[in-house]
Amino acid sequence: MLGEAMAAYDDFAWFYDRYWNEEFHSLAFPILERVWLARLAERASVLDVCCGTGYLAGMLLARGHLVTGIDCSPVMIEYARENQPSGVFHVADATTFQLPESFDAAVSTFDSLNHILALKDLQAVFRRVAAALKPGALFAFDMLLDDAYRTNWGQSFALVRDDHVLTITGSGFDFRSRKARCTITMFRLIAGAWQRADVTIYERCYTGKEISGALEQAGFGEISCYDAGDLGMSGQLGEGRTFIVAARQ
Ligand SMILES: C[S@@+](CC[C@H](N)C(=O)[O-])C[C@H]1O[C@@H](n2cnc3c(N)ncnc32)[C@H](O)[C@@H]1O
Repeated sequence: MLGEAMAAYDDFAWFYDRYWNEEFHSLAFPILERVWLARLAERASVLDVCCGTGYLAGMLLARGHLVTGIDCSPVMIEYARENQPSGVFHVADATTFQLPESFDAAVSTFDSLNHILALKDLQAVFRRVAAALKPGALFAFDMLLDDAYRTNWGQSFALVRDDHVLTITGSGFDFRSRKARCTITMFRLIAGAWQRADVTIYERCYTGKEISGALEQAGFGEISCYDAGDLGMSGQLGEGRTFIVAARQ
């Protein structure tokens, strides 16, 4: 499945970089500031797990923090390096990565950890993050819970421009496997020819108990959960989304 996750975001990267960053992070960053960033020291070293094209890294760098990002998609990492030359970015799988340095904090945003499709792999991610952090370091991330998958993943979306077109078809949520799927079809007009790419994104819905159990097993404590809607993340992006902050013990 990891191979599929990589290919998915490689083909999606151009659209993701152009359309998916600003709306989410303009709503998520004030929440991160309140529940996590305010508790970091100046010039803290931050690990961004599943960093995408580096948008959040840019916001953290602008605050004077030092940022290292990892993502399994080589094309997403290419964009991150280009977008944020003062960040450090590695192509790496969140379930297995190892870095030589220890970080003051870690973060993972935009339901990236719902892309990890098995509980044992989510446990592995938390273990790898714990191993990369100094004692007492804070790890903040957001995940989608039941309410998000029950309502939003059956919907469709289309975007049509003169030289690019994208459609997203949600295929709903499978209650037995607790997995959701959406299919993205993209066209871009490149050097006079339309090029098509199709990707499928899978996410897994975990319960709060599974998430906190996996965090504790990996060596995190002082776990706090914040409903995104309650903290001002309006509209569909906030529905069923929870921000979690945990401290490396
Ligand atoms: C929805 S995007 C979020 C990107 C970024 N965190 C943001 O806030 O914009 C999910 C990202 O997770 C990455 N990803 C998915 N599975 C991964 C894994 N096992 N290891 C590392 N990155 C992964 C994808 O390549 C993609 O860039």
